[in-house]
Amino acid sequence: MKKMQFHGIKVLVCDSYDELSAEATKIVAGAIKKKPRFVLGLATGTSPLGLYKGLAKANKAGEIDFSEVRTFNLDEYYPIDPKNDQSYRYFMNKNLFNKINIKKKNTRVPDGQAKDVKAFCESYEEDIKAAGGIDLQVLGIGRNGHIGFNEPADKFYDKTHVVTLTKNTIEANSRFFESADLVPKKAITMGVGTIMRAKKIVMVVNGENKADAVKGMLTGDVTPKNQASILRFHKDVTVILDKEAASKIL
Ligand code: F6R
Repeated sequence: MKKMQFHGIKVLVCDSYDELSAEATKIVAGAIKKKPRFVLGLATGTSPLGLYKGLAKANKAGEIDFSEVRTFNLDEYYPIDPKNDQSYRYFMNKNLFNKINIKKKNTRVPDGQAKDVKAFCESYEEDIKAAGGIDLQVLGIGRNGHIGFNEPADKFYDKTHVVTLTKNTIEANSRFFESADLVPKKAITMGVGTIMRAKKIVMVVNGENKADAVKGMLTGDVTPKNQASILRFHKDVTVILDKEAASKIL
């Protein structure tokens, strides 16, 4: 593993996805061990799957305890039924929550069925604050530099809000649904400010197709055109890459 630093961001370059996942597991599990009532921010997607497997394994082995841990997920489609197998709630139950000793009531994913979605977004922010803030936020990055559903834009959004998905995203996601009409047109996402208020951030990124986004985030301008670039202004960010994702910064 190679250790690097870009504008204060710690970067670990690993030889493989397995090594990347093991490093991420070490950091996240180590943090949870120090504070039983940990507040963990979570992401869906393929990037953190190895990390979630690692956490489930460590939990099973008795190395970490989730019984008092509370979680907040970054985002969810809107509207969507949590029982829909494309919902982020379904993903989290399947890939992490059902495999660890967490209390379901302590796991929060934005409510894809909220009646008053604006009020919901405000309450999500309040709930994060009431929990004492996020101790550690797990992130992935999109090919366009998005974090959560914060897509390239002319500004950075501060708080949890509703986004209208772009035609591209709807088309890309339609492969997971029976037809494009069934893809939700909107999503609820933490804002970039919500993410930046987390005490610690761990981003996991693998694959060649993320190399440009990673390069932009670490070496380009800080710009809402690459929303992840703002992470440079955070004081405790670790980005864990495989060789492919790091190929344009080495
Ligand atoms: C997921 C999320 C997204 C993903 C990003 C990378 O909750 O907020 O920003 O982290 O799209 O997705 P994968 O890991 O599937 O490449």
